[in-house]
Parts: sequence; C-alpha cells; structure tokens
Amino acid sequence: MLHRGLSEILARHRYEPGRLVQILRDVMQAEGYLSPPTITAVAEALRVPRSQVEGVAGFYAFFATEFRGRYRVLFSDNITDEMQGSGELRRRMLDAFHLELGEVSRDGQVSVGLTACTGLCDQGPAMLVNGRPIARLTPARIGAISALIRGGSPVEQWPDNLFTIDTHVERRDRLLDTVVEPGAALDAAITRGATGTLAELRASELRGRGGAGFSAGQKWTACAAAPGPERYIVCNADEGEPGTFKDRVLLTTHIGQLLEGMTVAAHAVGAQRGFIYLRGEYPFLEPIVEAALAARRGAGLLGRDVRGVRGFDFDIEVHHGAGAYVCGEESALIESLEGKRGIPRNRPPYPVTHGYLGKPTVVNNVETLIAAAQIALHGGAWFRTLGTPKSAGTKILSVSGDVARPGIYEYPFGVTVKQVLADAGAERAQAVQVGGPSGVLLAAHEFGRRIAFEDVPSAGAFMVFDETRDIVRVVDNFARFFAHESCGFCTPCRVGTTLVKHMMGRLTAGEGSRRDLKDLTRVTRLMKSSSQCGLGHTAGNPVVDALEKFKPAFVDRLPSLDVRPVFDLDAALGPAREATGRDDPGAHFGHGEET
Ligand SMILES: Cc1cc2nc3c(=O)[nH]c(=O)nc-3n(C[C@H](O)[C@H](O)[C@H](O)COP(=O)(O)O)c2cc1C
Ligand code: SF4
Repeated sequence: MLHRGLSEILARHRYEPGRLVQILRDVMQAEGYLSPPTITAVAEALRVPRSQVEGVAGFYAFFATEFRGRYRVLFSDNITDEMQGSGELRRRMLDAFHLELGEVSRDGQVSVGLTACTGLCDQGPAMLVNGRPIARLTPARIGAISALIRGGSPVEQWPDNLFTIDTHVERRDRLLDTVVEPGAALDAAITRGATGTLAELRASELRGRGGAGFSAGQKWTACAAAPGPERYIVCNADEGEPGTFKDRVLLTTHIGQLLEGMTVAAHAVGAQRGFIYLRGEYPFLEPIVEAALAARRGAGLLGRDVRGVRGFDFDIEVHHGAGAYVCGEESALIESLEGKRGIPRNRPPYPVTHGYLGKPTVVNNVETLIAAAQIALHGGAWFRTLGTPKSAGTKILSVSGDVARPGIYEYPFGVTVKQVLADAGAERAQAVQVGGPSGVLLAAHEFGRRIAFEDVPSAGAFMVFDETRDIVRVVDNFARFFAHESCGFCTPCRVGTTLVKHMMGRLTAGEGSRRDLKDLTRVTRLMKSSSQCGLGHTAGNPVVDALEKFKPAFVDRLPSLDVRPVFDLDAALGPAREATGRDDPGAHFGHGEET
C-alpha cells in the first residue's frame, strides 16, 4: 500500500501532525502493522521527527510495529469476561490454530492475544478482530470465527450478525427520558445569553460524570473567563475504565443531545471547535456519530453562524483512541488529540486555561454534556430537584458481573447499592466494585451505602461478584490491568504497578507470604502519594480495599506462616536506587519497619 494508500490516508487527514494518532490508526487498518518504512514515510510527509512517530506507534496498544498476522484476535481480559468463560474460549481458539498466547501463526495468518476491557461487559465474553468487536462469544461462535479465518475471508465480509452490539437499558430515569428536540436547548441558551447559561449551569450544581465530580458550571465559567480568542470543547468518550459501558449506550441513544450539549458549551464559553475523543474499541459508533454531525450541519446547528447567530461558528470532529486507558485522563487525552503519546501533563495549569494547543479547553464526559443540554432547556432548578445535597440529578450505572439483567441503570443520586443489586437480579453477592478498578470495593455489610459524591462516588461501573467468586483473583486481574496501562512516565506508578502485579500473581498462585501482604500496603501507599496522575493515585485502591475487607481470602492462600517473602521488594528496587543515587533509609522498604 505504501505510497498510494498512504498518500490517500495522509490527504484524508489534511497532512496535519495533530492527526498523527488517526493517521496511524488508518494505516493499521489498511496494513495490519506499522512497518519501519511506513513510520519513516509518515514522519517525512508530516515533517515531524521520526522519533515522534515511532514514540506514538509504540505507545498505543492498538498499534503494532511488527507484523501480527492478517487476523489479529484480541480477547478481552476484563474480569467479567473471565467470569463468563473467556479463558476456556481463548484456549479453544489457541488450540484450533496450535498457538500460544501472543504468538503469530507460522503462515502469518493469525495471532491471538489479550486486550483490556472492551466496554462490552453486559454482553461478554468479547473479542476484537482487526479492531472490530464481537460480543456474546460461545464455543459455536469461536468455531465459526476460526473457520472464517482459516478460509481467509476478509473481516469486512464476515456476516453482519457477528458484529451486532446490543443496547440493554434496564432502568430509565430523568436523563434518559428527557427529550430535547434538535436546537431547542441551543435556542434557550442563545436567548438566555452566555452569562445566563453559565449562571444556570452553576445553579444546577451539575458535577462531572467522568469520575472526579468537578462542578461543570465552574469549569465552563473559568474557561469563558480565560484570556485569548481561541477555545475548545472536548467530549471525553474514551470510557476505558473496566466495567464501564454507559457512554457507549448514550452515544447510541442520545447522540443528538450530546452534540447539542457541546454546542451549548461552545456558545457559553466562546469556543469555535470541538472534539469527540471516541474510545478505540467503539468503531461501530463512528457512523452514528458522523450521521448525527452531518444532520446537524445540514440543519444549521453546526458550522458557520450556528442557528443564524452571526459570528457563532462551531463544528465538531471525531478523534479515535487507540487502546490506552490513560488517555481518558483529560490532559493525556489532549496530548493524544495533538498527535502525541498520551502522557498526562503536570497540573496546574489545568485544561480550562491551558488545554488543547495550550488554549482554554472544556473537557467533559458524555453524560455531563447531555445533562448540560437538558439544563440549558429546562433550567438549573429543574435539574436540582433530584438527587442528594451534594449530588444533583441522576447517575447512569453500567451493571455487570453476577446479575440476572446486566445493562444500564439510571437512578437519582442517593440510591443504595442494595437497591441496584435487587433491581439487577443479583443473588448472594459478596462484593461490588463501584467505579471500576480505580473505584471502591464494597463488601456485603456496606450494601446499605449510597451512590453519591458524599458517600460512594462512581463514574458508572458497578461490577457484582457473588459468593462463588475468588476476590483475590479479581484483584489480581485489576493489578494486571494497571500494570499494563501505566504510561510509565513516573517511577512510583511504573515500578509500583509492576510490583503489585507480581506480588498479586504470587499470592493468587498460593506462593505468597505475610511479608508480601505488608509490602503490598507499603507500595500502594507510595503510589497514592507520589504518582503523577489519577491512574497511579488509584491503582492501589482494589488491593487496599480487598486487604481490609477480605483479608481471610488472602491469608487462606498463604502456603505457610513463613514470613520470608517470595518476592524481595528491596532487592527489586536496588537498580532504581542505584540510578537515582539514593541509599538513605527512605529509599528502602523494609528498614526500620516491622515485617
Ligand atoms: C486514568 C484516568 C482515566 C480516565 N478516564 C476517563 C474516561 O474514560 N472518561 C471520562 O469522562 N473521564 C475520565 N477520566 C477523568 C478525566 O480526567 C476528567 O476528569 C473528565 O473527563 C472531566 O469530565 P467531567 O467533569 O464531565 O467528569 C479519567 C481520569 C483518569 C485519571
Ligand atoms: S501515574 Fe502512572 S499513568 Fe500517570 S503519569 Fe505516572 S506512570 Fe503515567
């Protein structure tokens, strides 16, 4: 394909270095990998250093710099997929091609590997084939897929029903039920004026739905007040947290309201350009989003002089992620939008003043922006009538795991965990992971607690584990996830997540010691206090919670009461001490502490 195909891809992306991630994604689709000559050609065409293209090619999980086969099969390694039998199906497929995990077949036809959660936890087990998701895997489906691969049928020609993604909305409340006719919220915002819209949003007390819960009104107001003429609106649709899939459903069912919310935001802060950063695992949403964008352009709701307002020019483009969870972190996401590796920035300054291209930028979650459209139409007081004192409105939960009815559940904030479990048909639940691996692991005695910023905050994931599940194995899965997703920029997270993965691996295999349990506590504490971004701050959460609430599950697994560690943490940190020139007591784990 090199040169003609590549030229077409580059032209489609206007030879913009900022679209480097998009360009490499398209090359991956066409070629299956990013060869050294392709990397050189892209660098030359975009007039950027080759090292930049190579760095980006090596950063994202969905990019490969070596040939990985004509069919690249990646099974979701999420814990709920594992609970639904993913391991057995994977083994079946590996056996069918006489492969080991990660290996490419000798004839270059196929490789089978693992990927992080694919956002299909309500219909797992799931896999990606050449980037396209296939859900509800069964032995029969694995047989059919293996036959298609063996027959050399192009993935584009596989039966459509293999790629069907279902939408399970199990409980609706105000956000899902409110209708906003195209342009209605925008008209209300234009009538009210930018200052009025900002006041209304502050009055609503809407807090961000992507995790941190920051006030949307304050964020928009700060962006509007930042100096300079250029501003940007970014919709964070990266949704990488294992167990979360509500944005996938919202993008399918409420795309018009999302675009309306982004346009309201643009009017309120004075932005000219918007981006939707779409999770790489959701290519099937692209036609839905593009069709909605085209319809709004046709209706004068995007483009020049939006809604007839002179000088109100605003349009939105879609950027695709490429399999990096850390790119959900807003500053890493902006780096990715600029065509770079998704390394989180030092903060402050925050994106509201120094975001995309260093300009004021609002970054909001999908659910937040839909709520903002509804607030623009119905007002802040209307929104405030639901929820709890510190959590206005409703929350959409992605419920999966050991429940009879996995799917999307919307509740006013303040709903108890117990209520959600009852509605979803959970029997004999022993634990719920709320907010994904970076969130909170709740034990049964805590099921009376409430989903709300003042009690159990959640970006949306709600994974249920019944009494038959092994909590140590669950935490081991989360530990592997964080070690894989750490961007490696800062030492506490890079080294810490790897150490935790190793220690959890040993403990899960029944080879741990009491000393390992203590080391886990020390390492997770260090990660929380010294990491650069939210990934490192939260990566230890499941370990800390499980050690506190499910200690017997760990202790029962210890082979003996021997205190000798199977993993010598201090020795493992030796090279790091040598590199940094540190040998003071603080650079040692065991010294001065009881073991
Ligand atoms: C590692 C990491 C991953 C994140 N992933 C997402 C994500 O997938 N979607 C999201 O909306 N926010 C995510 N966030 C939070 C964003 O940084 C940011 O707070 C959010 O997009 C702001 O929007 P909101 O105020 O509407 O919640 C993530 C944060 C971290 C630290
Ligand atoms: S905390 Fe982890 S993910 Fe965040 S910057 Fe450091 S290494 Fe990267």
